[in-house]
Amino acid sequence: MTILSAPPVPTIKPPPHPQWPSLSEGEKEALKARIQAHLQALDAVLVAHYYTDGELQALAEETGGIVADSLEMARFGTESDASLLVVCGVRFMGETAKILNPEKRVLMPNLDATCSLDESCPAGLFSQFCDQYPDHKVVVYANTSAAVKARADWVVTSSIALPIVEYLRDQGEKILWAPDKHLGHYIERMTGAEMLLWPGACVVHEEFKGFALERLRRLHPDAAVLVHPESPKEVIDQADVVGSTTQLIKAVAELPQRKFIVATDEGIFWKMRQLAPDKTLIAAPTAGEGATCESCANCPWMGMNALQSLEQVLIRQDQEVQIPPEIREKAVVPIQRMLDFARARGIGRPAKG
Ligand code: 13P
Ligand code: SF4
Repeated sequence: MTILSAPPVPTIKPPPHPQWPSLSEGEKEALKARIQAHLQALDAVLVAHYYTDGELQALAEETGGIVADSLEMARFGTESDASLLVVCGVRFMGETAKILNPEKRVLMPNLDATCSLDESCPAGLFSQFCDQYPDHKVVVYANTSAAVKARADWVVTSSIALPIVEYLRDQGEKILWAPDKHLGHYIERMTGAEMLLWPGACVVHEEFKGFALERLRRLHPDAAVLVHPESPKEVIDQADVVGSTTQLIKAVAELPQRKFIVATDEGIFWKMRQLAPDKTLIAAPTAGEGATCESCANCPWMGMNALQSLEQVLIRQDQEVQIPPEIREKAVVPIQRMLDFARARGIGRPAKG
């Protein structure tokens, strides 16, 4: 493994997790009904990620939209007849939807909802770096800007990164991987591919600590450990299942264990509880005793998606994703390559429920 140390990568300080005013049941139902009416009037559909607020995930399903991982969110937009996609997640998800569906409008509750991986990989620096390794295939995680994708040969999500890198390894390709060093290191260990890793990380998954997880496992020896591969190696090494959000949800529904320790954003518990209400879910420990944890298994940018911000964007229609055509033309190529690969191999589809 070679982790690239130059160029200097920006340090990302996550914002505080947004606090939304609590609503009574009656207020919540009225708000949901108003959102539903806006969606109908605008011929719009909700495309939500598993890390968003549970009420919002439920509404997406109730109104004919989807709750899914990054790969399925991308695919759903291309299959939907709606003329307006409302992407509830972080900015790269909205950008991917727009890149794949330039004829549709794409709104997000808040365009400031970024991702530390995306921020760690500025397009100019990344492009210069790629220029130094012209003999490497450039493989970027979906959690990147449209401009970074425009510089890539392949885009991957955590659902499909392993088979795509295996395929490239079998072709004898060397890989320049960005931006998540933990996911990249995991893929490299699993495939034996020759990879250069950009030194980015997810501020949420980086909080999971191996020593604290070891202690928790001793308290719950009957629990299966589920880990998203954006987590550090010491955490991944203790996992029974390492996988994308969809793969972790399916593990809860399908494995015989009754108890699970889950190392990923806690927003995922909504779908896990929906599919397996009788199973016990335990959040994996973050940061250790006495530490001040800012993200604590709750992505602050995903937290910008709430019923309230969703209603506002449907009224104002002001948070619209725009991609310059010259970037879109290039970025669509590696994204479409991933979707074609997924279709050819039968990879994907969201957890049912
Ligand atoms: P998935 O594609 O597994 O849903 O992951 C997206 C993400 O941002 C995880 O932090
Ligand atoms: Fe990005 Fe991490 Fe948030 Fe996922 S959880 S969107 S990788 S900051």
